[in-house]
Amino acid sequence: MNSYNIAVIGGDGTGPEVTREAVKVLETAARKHAIQLNFTSYDLGGARYLRTQEALPDSVVSELRHFPAILLGAIGHPDVKPGVLEKGILLRLRFELEQYINLRPVKLYDERFCPLKEKGPKEVDFVVVRENNEGLYTGAGGYVFKGTPHEIAVQESINTRRGVERCLRFAFDFTRRRNKEKKLTLCGKTNVLTYAFDLWERAFHEIGSKDFSDIKRDYAHVDATTMWFVKNPEWFDVIVTDNMFGDIITDLGAMIQGGMGIAAGGNINPQGTSMFEPIGGSAPKYTGQGVINPLAAICAGQMMLDFLGETSAAQAIEKAVIQITREKIRSLAAGRMGYSTSQVGDLVAAAL
Ligand code: IPM
Ligand code: MN
Repeated sequence: MNSYNIAVIGGDGTGPEVTREAVKVLETAARKHAIQLNFTSYDLGGARYLRTQEALPDSVVSELRHFPAILLGAIGHPDVKPGVLEKGILLRLRFELEQYINLRPVKLYDERFCPLKEKGPKEVDFVVVRENNEGLYTGAGGYVFKGTPHEIAVQESINTRRGVERCLRFAFDFTRRRNKEKKLTLCGKTNVLTYAFDLWERAFHEIGSKDFSDIKRDYAHVDATTMWFVKNPEWFDVIVTDNMFGDIITDLGAMIQGGMGIAAGGNINPQGTSMFEPIGGSAPKYTGQGVINPLAAICAGQMMLDFLGETSAAQAIEKAVIQITREKIRSLAAGRMGYSTSQVGDLVAAAL
């Protein structure tokens, strides 16, 4: 029997509520598919930070390295200054565990949940591969003359050939394995960011023509990409882009697949510890009410099983999610599902 050790970080706000349901569904799927999952919980987030003044102890990072996967709820606390927990926990884990890919499927399960006219599950089904370790996120930059009228703030976008190349290779390979249209679109801004995206574009065509000649290459500027998401989402198969653009376009992607209640993502280190999360935040105003939608966390769990190689168990979870979103759930929005958070978890578990 395959056995996996999984770290669980419920985190802040509604994070613990939704991860509880994801664990419930994962345990049911594991029983059905003869897999063993051993969960270890880590208490990280705003509450711990306020108690100890430490966001993420080094010892915890070292321990997490021994897990093949982490299931994360949400990070972000109303009493902690914005940025402290995001940088101190989420981004630090993405960087130190070298999770250089942020994989975000944009897949609509039922046409009722799509805000676009005349678009359904057939049209909204693509994947964004977001570079997750570089770009504007590294913290490179600084101030000069801070607090004076002459203040200068510089925030630099870091694009290394190595970092860009490993991301592109992952994206090409993913497009091949996905085997849908075998089309990879580079999303950039080559008309303005003429250094950064020149590097991306050259690497894209070099790697594509040399090692992935079976994959069609396409290009779209980031602003046009947001337009196509709304107008012709069916044009996309796999999109690869930098960290900042990926952050922005995947929030739009989440909306066309039904919202934050369903959108999941994986922070992937193909050789190390990967971390799966619902991409919505900690939703402080819904905390503790049992109204938040756990499907995004459940889908994160599904991505985790898929990543671990447990394809049939992952497919069974997706099938169950599709079934209950089509047949039971009234709305994917918090408080309007027609069921409580734990009832939705029960429905998915029962559908398995
Ligand atoms: C996301 C989030 C994070 C990001 C924040 C919380 C730092 O928006 O995962 O998309 O910008 O990457
Ligand atoms: Mn984001």
